[in-house]
This record gives sequence, structure tokens and C-alpha cells, in this order.
Amino acid sequence: MTERPRDDSGKKHELDDIERIASRVPGWLSRLEGELLYSLALGAPAHGCIVEIGSWQGKSTIWLAAGARSGRGARVIAVDPHRDTRFHADGEDTEVALRKNLAAAGLSHQIDVVVATSERAVEGWKQPISLLWIDGDHEYESVKRDFLLWEKHVVEGGMVALHDTLYWEGPARVVSEFLQPLRRYSDLSFVDTITFATKRQDPTLAQLLSKRKAILHRHVYAVRAAAAPDPFHVATLFDGLARLRRIRVPLRWRSPDR
Ligand SMILES: C[S@@+](CC[C@H](N)C(=O)[O-])C[C@H]1O[C@@H](n2cnc3c(N)ncnc32)[C@H](O)[C@@H]1O
Repeated sequence: MTERPRDDSGKKHELDDIERIASRVPGWLSRLEGELLYSLALGAPAHGCIVEIGSWQGKSTIWLAAGARSGRGARVIAVDPHRDTRFHADGEDTEVALRKNLAAAGLSHQIDVVVATSERAVEGWKQPISLLWIDGDHEYESVKRDFLLWEKHVVEGGMVALHDTLYWEGPARVVSEFLQPLRRYSDLSFVDTITFATKRQDPTLAQLLSKRKAILHRHVYAVRAAAAPDPFHVATLFDGLARLRRIRVPLRWRSPDR
């Protein structure tokens, strides 16, 4: 019996549509990174929500919510104070633009916009988190605080992903000081400047060994990236690898309720 070729054209159209919408939103995210967030949200376990720290005007929020909508319908909680941060000019406020962009994308119903700092929003937090996306203040102490305050709510089999882990010292240090050494994080991987890993209390030996390999791999990737003339050139340099990883993400996802 011959195997029928897989028809991925529907998915490709969907991703093209999201890219069209997301590319109109000001922000900092490559298409590959957006597609990664989409796949992570698509596979996120249903019993947890997706938390985004740092929404700006909604570029990454749109990719996450679109993935959740096509997957198991997890809610996206988008946390950002929207004013008075190092990203905002005096008097600038990004909340209205965020809400407008989410509505234009037809995704408002999937997202709870929380106008607060991450440290404020986590007070009294009780909900399980299936995917934690950290893209808030990029200073080391802030990224470390975001990681430590929120990761304890991530469920077994859930994921943590951090942005800008190649060129920004804060997120890069948090990856090397926490995500890499912590035994409860395995299946470490990366796409462009995002590093992500799965939380598991009892990783197998194979998972731990594969994490060691990924750390080595990531080190080579970071050295190559540092030599790249501009941040997104690295996406081209590693296009083959990134594509391979992109395909592997949904396949590698092994949530406990599957
Ligand atoms: C790099 S931008 C986020 C970009 C966005 N994810 C995108 O895809 O375009 C960083 C965001 O972090 C937010 N931020 C700064 N300090 C924060 C804090 N303490 N808690 C939550 N968000 C914070 C800023 O308001 C800003 O919108």
C-alpha cells in the first residue's frame, strides 16, 4: 500500500494569514519565532493557560492565541503594564493599540489582557500554566524574577520559552543559569533567539543526555550568531536547522494528557 503524501497546504495558508496580520503589528519577533509560538500554543496541555509576560502591541500575543485557537483552546493571559517601562516614551501607552490589534486579528475572545507588571499580576496567582512565554523587561534581575515567580505554576509537561536569549545579556544569563542546569527542564531547544524547554519532574536519562547535546548545540549556535552581521541573519544561517526544528516541535511535544 502506498502512503499518501501529507497535505500541509491548509496549515501553510493559516500560517501565511497569521503572518500577514502579525506583520502589521509593531514589535520584535521573526516569522520563525512566531511560528514556533504558534506550535507551542497549539500543543499546550488543555488544563493550563498560556501566560505571556510582555505583550507590547500584540505581535507575539497574536501568534500564541492563533495557535491556542487551532489547538485545544487554551486562554492566553497577556501581562504588561503598557506604560512607564524602559520600552515606553514619556506618556506613551500601548494598551489601546494592543486591544485594537487583537480585535483586528479576531482573537480578543481568546485573550485576557492584564494591565499590570508581571510581579503584580502573579500575586495570588492560582491557575496552572501550560506555556509560559517571557518577553518583558530584559534586565537580568527582571528576567530572573519573571522566571522564578511564574515557572512554579507551570504544569508537568508544560513549557517555558524566553525571547532574546542570544543578544540580550539578561535572558541569555537566565537560560544558562536556570533553564540549562535545572534538572526539571528537559527537551531544551531553540529557534532564532527563543530558547524553550519542557518541565518534567522525572526526566529520563535519554532526555537528560539530549539536553546536554542541546546545550552544546546552543553554545555553537550562540557563537555563530555573535558573528552574524545582524540579528535576523542568523535565521538564514541556520535556516535548515531551524526548519528541521520547526517541524520537530509538534512531534516532540508529549503532553501528559495526550
Ligand atoms: C520587547 S517588548 C515585548 C514585545 C512583544 N512580545 C512583541 O511580540 O512585540 C517588552 C514588553 O515588556 C513590557 N514590560 C516591561 N516591564 C514589565 C514588567 N515588569 N512586567 C510585565 N511586562 C513588562 C513592556 O511594557 C513591553 O511591552
